[in-house]
Amino acid sequence: MSRSAGDGAPRGPRFVVTPGGSLRGRVRVPGDKSVSHRAIMLAAIADGETEITGFLEGADSLATLAAFRAMGVTVEGPHGGRVLVKGVGLHGLRAPAEPLDLGNSGTSMRLLSGLLAGQRFETTLIGDASLSSRPMRRVTEPLARMGARIATTEAGTAPLRIGPAETLRGIDYAMPVASAQVKSSLLLAGLYAEGRTCVSEPAPTRDHTERMLGAFGWPVTRDPVDRHGARVCIEGGGQLTAAPIAVPADISSAAFFLVGASIAPGSDLTLEDVGINPTRTGVINILRAMGASLEVLRERDLGGEPVADIRVRGAALRGIEIPADQVPLAIDEFPALFIAAACAEGATLLTGAEELRVKESDRIAVMAAGLQTLGVEADVRADGILIRGRADAEARPGAAAGAGALLGGGRVDSHGDHRIAMAFAMAALRAGAPIEIDDCANVATSFPGFAALAAGAGLGIAEHSA
Ligand code: S3P
Repeated sequence: MSRSAGDGAPRGPRFVVTPGGSLRGRVRVPGDKSVSHRAIMLAAIADGETEITGFLEGADSLATLAAFRAMGVTVEGPHGGRVLVKGVGLHGLRAPAEPLDLGNSGTSMRLLSGLLAGQRFETTLIGDASLSSRPMRRVTEPLARMGARIATTEAGTAPLRIGPAETLRGIDYAMPVASAQVKSSLLLAGLYAEGRTCVSEPAPTRDHTERMLGAFGWPVTRDPVDRHGARVCIEGGGQLTAAPIAVPADISSAAFFLVGASIAPGSDLTLEDVGINPTRTGVINILRAMGASLEVLRERDLGGEPVADIRVRGAALRGIEIPADQVPLAIDEFPALFIAAACAEGATLLTGAEELRVKESDRIAVMAAGLQTLGVEADVRADGILIRGRADAEARPGAAAGAGALLGGGRVDSHGDHRIAMAFAMAALRAGAPIEIDDCANVATSFPGFAALAAGAGLGIAEHSA
């Protein structure tokens, strides 16, 4: 179940969260991880200097930044979210002296596989124990069809040895899984390919790569998105031109606060500048279907991405069957949504979400184990989970102690998965006893400063060294 243990990495720090309370005030969560990765990648191979603001200074996007520095790109910053990238042009990258270590970051590894498949030098991509066990054939197989030469382990995992490339050829690829990482990897390889590269998705997935390519002046054609997703095509042999990028606050990080404030009576919290790209808003749609009180305010455009402030207040939630079309639109938000389900009245059923098993941890198994520790019935399915909400158990004798408590306390192992750690931290808002969460170092991959920001909003969270 765990893919963080065994690599010798420290298993700390530990969160200890006191029960109860509510979330109030105004909060800006850090920059969007997906957009931050793409901003560095496209800026590095563009002509000209790109200024990025609101960049996520988390370990994952910093791993992408370090990879391009190692390939000869001059990058100033980050300083307070500002990064200046001196682009080297499409063919200006240089061979790195050592393997590129991408830590815990699947987005770095999968997107770089495509981008580096088109280079005239060889690279090796490595990562931590979790990343080294995640499936990479989903990118290496279609890239091989384009002419890329990428070696994986026998299990189809990292280390990845890439290139040097022969000529890449565009392909027309129908993705078997709805994955923005696969789509983006192929589009980045397509920049270097002869002819046209087209990728069809079985359901809509985040489209930040397409939007940002457009902002850098590379034409992208998209068939209209219907419920089966889009077909995206680009032609090889163009040029990217530097363009300023303002990164919205990450809706995937905001999700913990949306859930925390929803489950905690008396909460009234506004999240500022949150990216509300429609390929990412499943968490809003699902929480609203569960009865959450969410107001989307001040909608506006930030450099080609829609953003808004989101006001969330405590509400009585009810369990739902999660609509299949929302699953790819909320794929990173299920750890948080499972906590909402645990605090709802009635059962919540998730199906069609087998992808959760190959994220930074097996998020179905790890969440179920943690929920069970807190006294929540959680039945694991091959492709999802059934969670029996505790709101109808509130009045039951023997339910968690403490006024308004729905969940028990206890010690939960995040298995080194940032989103599991933050989800269980929010669960304490409705617990009857403290929740301790182990192995929280990787919270810094996507949300540096989470504990301090959450404490400022009212969560009783303290961080202890392991
Ligand atoms: C991401 C795509 C998603 C998501 C990940 C970030 C991206 O992965 O889970 O955190 O930035 O393209 P998949 O493409 O595997 O669904």
